[in-house]
Amino acid sequence: MTDHILIERPENAPGVQVIRLNRAEKKNAITRAMYQAMTDALKAGDTDDAVRATLFLGSEGCFSAGNDLNDFMAFAMGGTMGREVIDFLHALAAHGKPLVSGVDGLAIGIGTTIHLHCDLTYASSRTEFRTPFVDLALVPEAASSLLAPRLMGHQRAFALLAAGEGFSAAAARDAGLVYAVVEPAAVESEALAAARRLAAKPPKALAIARNLIRGDRADVAARIDEEAGHFAAQLKSPEARAAFEAFMARGRG
Ligand code: COA
Repeated sequence: MTDHILIERPENAPGVQVIRLNRAEKKNAITRAMYQAMTDALKAGDTDDAVRATLFLGSEGCFSAGNDLNDFMAFAMGGTMGREVIDFLHALAAHGKPLVSGVDGLAIGIGTTIHLHCDLTYASSRTEFRTPFVDLALVPEAASSLLAPRLMGHQRAFALLAAGEGFSAAAARDAGLVYAVVEPAAVESEALAAARRLAAKPPKALAIARNLIRGDRADVAARIDEEAGHFAAQLKSPEARAAFEAFMARGRG
C-alpha cells in the first residue's frame, strides 16, 4: 500500500468508494505502487456489494501530471515495466460500478485519458487536459486511440492525442470528455454528490443501463494491449529517452 493513494468511504456518501491521488508534491505523478493501489481498490470495489459507485479525485489544483517520468526513464534505461500500469488499465476498463471523476487543474497523460473510462466527469473551470504523448515520443494509451475518436470525432481526438493540444475545461465539455464545468471550490462536492446519487439507485438496473450504454468492452481491452505494445517499444527509443532526459534536466541549466 502507499499513502500516495487514499481509499476513502465518506460517511456522507454511503456506497461511494473514493480513490484519491495524494502525491501533490509531485503533481500526483503516478508511480507503479500507485497504479497497484488503484487496481486493488477497483477490484475490491467490483466484488464488494457495499460499493455502488467509484469516484476518482486528485488534489486542489492538480488531478495528475500523468505517469511518473522516472518510471518511464527506468524502463528506457533497461529496467522492467512491471504489470502495474497494464493491470490498472484493464481493471479500469472492466470496472463494474459507475465511475465518476472530479478534476481540478492539471490533467496530463493518464490524468486525462482516465476520464474516457468515466461515466460522469466534473471539471473545474481552471482545468486543462493535455496528453503530450507524441512530444515525449510516446503513443496514446488507456484505449484512448479508440475511445477519444468515438467520443469527440477524429479531428478533436487527433488534436488532443497526436498534436498534444491542450483542452480547456469548456473545450473538453464541448468535446464530450466532461459532463459539467464547475468552480474549483465545488468540484469535489459536485462529483461526490453525483456519485452519491448513483450509489442510491437500484444497482442492478444501473449496471445493466451502464453496460448497454458502454457496449461490448472486448475491443477496449484489445486496444489497451495494442497500444501498450507500441508504447513499450517507443519507451526504449532514443527519441523518448532524450525527451525524459530533457524533463529531468529542466531548470538545472
Ligand atoms: N513524473 C515525475 N515527476 C513529476 C512529474 C511526472 N510526470 N510531473 C511533475 N513531477 C515532479 C517534478 O519533477 C517536481 O519535482 P521536484 O519538486 O522534486 O523537482 C514536482 O513534481 C513539481 O513539478 P514542477 O515541474 O516543478 O511543477 P510546475 O508547476 O512547474 O509544472 C507540470 C507542472 C505538470 C507542467 C510539469 O511538472 C510537467 O510537465 N510534468 C510532466 C508531465 C508529463 O509529461 N507527464 C507524462 C505524460 S505521458
